[in-house]
Amino acid sequence: MSTTMEVTNNKRQIAGAELLNLLIIDDEKAVRESCREAAQINGFTTFAAESAEQGYKVLEAQPVDIILLDLKLPGASGLEALREVRKRRPDAAVIIITGYATVASAVHAMKQGAFDYITKPFTLDELRTMLERATEDLRRISQKRAVREEMRSKQGFGSLVGKSAEMERLYRIITKAAQSTHPVLIIGESGTGKELVARSIHYSGPNRDKPFIPVDCGSLVPTLIESELFGYVRGAFTGAVRSKEGLFQIANGGTVFLDEIGELPVDLQSKLLRSIQEHEIRPVGSTKRIPIDVRILAATNRDLEHEVSDGNFRRDLYFRLNVLTLRIPPLRERRQDIPLLTDYFLERLARSSGTRKVLSDDVVKALLDYDWPGNVRELENCIERTWALSSGTTLGFPDLPTYIKTTHEQKATVKVVGPKILPLIEIERKAILEAIEQLHGDKLMAARMLGIGKTTLYRKLKEYSQI
Ligand SMILES: Nc1ncnc2c1ncn2[C@@H]1O[C@H](COP(=O)(O)OP(=O)(O)OP(=O)(O)O)[C@@H](O)[C@H]1O
Ligand SMILES: [Mg+2]
Repeated sequence: MSTTMEVTNNKRQIAGAELLNLLIIDDEKAVRESCREAAQINGFTTFAAESAEQGYKVLEAQPVDIILLDLKLPGASGLEALREVRKRRPDAAVIIITGYATVASAVHAMKQGAFDYITKPFTLDELRTMLERATEDLRRISQKRAVREEMRSKQGFGSLVGKSAEMERLYRIITKAAQSTHPVLIIGESGTGKELVARSIHYSGPNRDKPFIPVDCGSLVPTLIESELFGYVRGAFTGAVRSKEGLFQIANGGTVFLDEIGELPVDLQSKLLRSIQEHEIRPVGSTKRIPIDVRILAATNRDLEHEVSDGNFRRDLYFRLNVLTLRIPPLRERRQDIPLLTDYFLERLARSSGTRKVLSDDVVKALLDYDWPGNVRELENCIERTWALSSGTTLGFPDLPTYIKTTHEQKATVKVVGPKILPLIEIERKAILEAIEQLHGDKLMAARMLGIGKTTLYRKLKEYSQI
């Protein structure tokens, strides 16, 4: 073969080859040498073996990504060698080297998982093209894996826990929403998993490798939101010494997740509406419009319809965002998910700490009795805190937060004696949460009507989901 190899091949490296290890298993020295040289020129780190046995040894010692495997080796049958090679490096791309006489077995090898085959004699250019394809294929696979890992670490679709009918329904809508490009409005009480659902929609859709950019409209200073979202040009305001891209531009091709959309000031609501309708934005201080291509997902724990009728939220924007609505049910409406979620959080803790702990029966009962106003986040915090407090390998009833214990004891007492007496701390908690609910999420108004300061209210809310 070496005689027919023309050295017309350009010496440019294959992009990405420098990260890959390549192994040639061929008993013909000339083939081994020329393939090795060609692969090196193309940028690969190479290894060579003259028998299947020697090849296996290399595979056991080196992280090989691409294997050039002669189908006719002395000793092992070609297909047997392929099986052994794949056993050792299931992720590697195996390219079969074959003669015309053995093309049929090469095709058979592809059915057994080989990447492709190349027929002897071949030119360096043919080999290069084959290696380019294998490199590209490996890159695609590793990208897919990275996305999967990212989803897992960010608890995307695969990590949405729950098997209740409500959650199953939600999964179906998420799958559908992921395939469309319309805006989605995600509604749910605090801690129900709105952001997790938004991520799931993005990461199970076709633009999963493009950015997912969350924007918390509630925590940004109103005057800054516009420049954050749309960017600004140099000199747009004092301190704008150079222009800056907005989040819409950064997310281009991907998703902008507008969290707490109900908090968006009215003047920005019209600007947002315009950019959604016209698919373009205008950076602060600029007269030029920039085309954008982003998907909008929005979330709120407020009753937006109510905000619309109160004149706090633009009706047209509401309709725009609300093409598809996804309502996440509160945890108390799907209590059968509580044990599943609890197991999931315990499993996560076991993995990160190396210690496995279980729940005692009365803890499970108490968790099922409680109403979880802070939903999954409150449950997550509760398990983490109880886990940290418990000394043995069982989380016991005494380790639970007081208000969960009292709720359980109250319920048990009511069953026995009748009268319902709530501890003051529980009455206060109920009063605060009910006020917020009645005022459709308006915390400022709730604080005012309850006669407490805004900071106190926030502090208490924080305590409820964290104690
Ligand atoms: N179904 C679920 N399975 C597993 N974890 C969940 C689920 N739902 C929520 N969580 C977890 O609960 C926490 C709260 O979720 P997330 O931040 O998505 O809620 P949210 O509705 O956006 O809350 P908030 O309104 O307070 O912003 C996160 O740590 C999230 O991982
Ligand atoms: Mg959120």
